[in-house]
Amino acid sequence: MRRKLAAGNWKMNGTSDALAQLTALRNAHPTPGVDILICPPATLISAAVVTAADHPLAIGGQDCHMAQIGAHTGDISAAMLKDAGASYVLTGHSERRTDHNETDEMIRNKTKAAHAEGLIAVVCIGETLKEREAANTLDIIAGQLAGSLPDVLTAENTVIAYEPVWAIGTGKVPTTNQIGEVHDYIRTKLEQRYGAGVGKSIRILYGGSVKGSNADEIFAVSNVDGALVGGASLKAEDFSPIITALENA
Ligand code: PGA
Repeated sequence: MRRKLAAGNWKMNGTSDALAQLTALRNAHPTPGVDILICPPATLISAAVVTAADHPLAIGGQDCHMAQIGAHTGDISAAMLKDAGASYVLTGHSERRTDHNETDEMIRNKTKAAHAEGLIAVVCIGETLKEREAANTLDIIAGQLAGSLPDVLTAENTVIAYEPVWAIGTGKVPTTNQIGEVHDYIRTKLEQRYGAGVGKSIRILYGGSVKGSNADEIFAVSNVDGALVGGASLKAEDFSPIITALENA
């Protein structure tokens, strides 16, 4: 009932020659059995939308401002992403939380701004290594969910990405039991807050060092509806096996 999603986050990587990776991706998956999303740097969004035209490959932003317009040098609004052809935006990625001191409240407002423009928000949450070692993971997840999600949302306009900070870009991946524990917990929290219908329908992605070689076992975990992939989304030849693993899950 939940359509699976393979999402790639290029972060601050890629100039126009990287568009060739999108072409390779669409050629490798002419009729994908799962949703595919690539979030390139903002400078490439318009061109990426053109490259992905007439293919289900969706293009998203990596962040948006909470305001629609205004004096915010260097920032990009949800309306601008929408205008450029994006259909998704990441909110609350741990690198935004760390590099730009983004709080749960800011992330909630960004998520609302995304929804107001008709974008699908991929709201990212996850604990640090210190928090996990102190056995605080589920409390941190509960707090981030409570603070980063608006009171009103739908399963169509919201995706959750669970990304343990210590697994991002490190090659370290939680055990499947650890992933399952957090995903099941997120599912329960969503059902409690938004009701069973919405709570059961929101997609929950896992992110953090997902590769072709570990995708099968991660996608077999309960309540894992796809992945948010950084490093392994930059090259079509690395991302493609993850898409295939998700199609076969
Ligand atoms: P990674 O990044 O796949 O390179 O670990 C994941 C992410 O930050 O979304």
